[in-house]
Amino acid sequence: MAGFTLFAISAAGQTCPATPVPSVKGMTVPKDVCIPAGFTDLTIDYFDDYSWKSFVAMIWPSVYGGRGTPDPGRTYVGAGPRVFETFKPLWEIFHRDGSAPASADFQEYEAPMQNACSVRAGFGDMVLASDSGYHDLGQAADGGLLGPLVAQNRSYVRYLTSYNEIAFRHIQSNKWYLRSALPVVPVPRPLQPAIEFPNGAIVVKTAWIETLGLTDAQKRRIYSRMAVIKDTATGKCRKAPVGLIGIHIAQKTASRPQWIWSSFEQVDLAPPAEPDGPGAFLLNDGSNAPMPKSNPIPLVPLPKAPTPFNVERSPKALIHPQTMATNATYRKLVAGSVWQNYQLVVTQWPLAPGDQSLPVSPKQAGDIFQTFPGDGATSAYSNLSMETFHQARPGQGCMNCHNRTRLTADFMWSVQMHAFPPQIFLPQAAESPQKKK
Ligand code: HEC
Repeated sequence: MAGFTLFAISAAGQTCPATPVPSVKGMTVPKDVCIPAGFTDLTIDYFDDYSWKSFVAMIWPSVYGGRGTPDPGRTYVGAGPRVFETFKPLWEIFHRDGSAPASADFQEYEAPMQNACSVRAGFGDMVLASDSGYHDLGQAADGGLLGPLVAQNRSYVRYLTSYNEIAFRHIQSNKWYLRSALPVVPVPRPLQPAIEFPNGAIVVKTAWIETLGLTDAQKRRIYSRMAVIKDTATGKCRKAPVGLIGIHIAQKTASRPQWIWSSFEQVDLAPPAEPDGPGAFLLNDGSNAPMPKSNPIPLVPLPKAPTPFNVERSPKALIHPQTMATNATYRKLVAGSVWQNYQLVVTQWPLAPGDQSLPVSPKQAGDIFQTFPGDGATSAYSNLSMETFHQARPGQGCMNCHNRTRLTADFMWSVQMHAFPPQIFLPQAAESPQKKK
């Protein structure tokens, strides 16, 4: 009958403080959200603290040559490829000919012929490209891709999805890179997914722009690195400096089999300006021109010289004030590093009534009314760099969209879309309205 004490053992077996204790010293993603037993109120502070700790673990430098392994000898400010940059990207898992990943080991890199630039990738290398030249540019739709986003420096925004070792091994051993190996969902539809990832599976989706043409003041505030990209004008691959503008992190945990969904943005994407900001936005020209209602740029055919449009954060879905408070705390903790210019936009999690420390049943779906911030949301549920045009409908939050592939692919759209042969739906909105007669 006791209420919760200062530290209480949660149902997930962790000892959880009554209020989260912010820290940027952890090099591994927390195994689970830490909610004290008996807590029945809104858990946003616990989830947002979990998200920031996950972010710190993702940006931690990787042991040299050790993919996915944080270096205990360094802190999050150390140089070199970050843990998330060493995960397995889609091209290493879903080969264009459906062949199995050759690397028995997570450490190895797949052969050059498997990526769209035919480059030999080694530790920490990044290839931002797709065979079609547009599949890495389309914004997410339900099981497909919509029009692309263009930054003010006229760089297209490029997306990359990568899996950690637990998730990769599970896909590999079940042959889920083949559509024929994905189990058919029985009729009547079961409550629990036909395929399930193990706890500890982590998948990240990142958004990058070329940094060419940005001012020094802007560049200083973005995490930048070199990547091989496919030039959209020439179709040829080249090396380019790129900057990270968004990162989604999803982890499957014991208490939340619907995954915990965390989403971060670089802070200079759109108004309002930061107090110490660089004087320009990456996705907005600073004029009062409003954001268009729908994306004016088609994915097919992809314009070679696109004109940027203004991106705004919908006043109806601002970042939750409690998330902003957590951001303020953590951004202070990472002050002095480039990471102080990143912020959590939203953590989304499955909701069940009662004691929040108890695990949610895997039979529960990820429908909007069973998630935070839920139907009628008044705080952010999408990322400006990735679901730019999904800010007006709470039904278009992370989980409700990923829920559509819950029974077939355990919420993982990329498995559903990229298993060979791929099925990537291009809704009308991705195509130019001026079709050739
Ligand atoms: C309208 C649908 C939609 C919404 C909303 C959406 N996503 Fe996705 N997401 C997708 C699709 C489609 C992909 C796969 C794209 C691909 O592989 O080309 C994806 C990929 C991902 C991935 C990589 C794993 C996977 O499922 O392939 C993560 C992680 C992710 N999204 C997180 C989020 C988060 C966090 C949010 C909310 C802030 C969000 N998504 C909102 C459709 C959506």
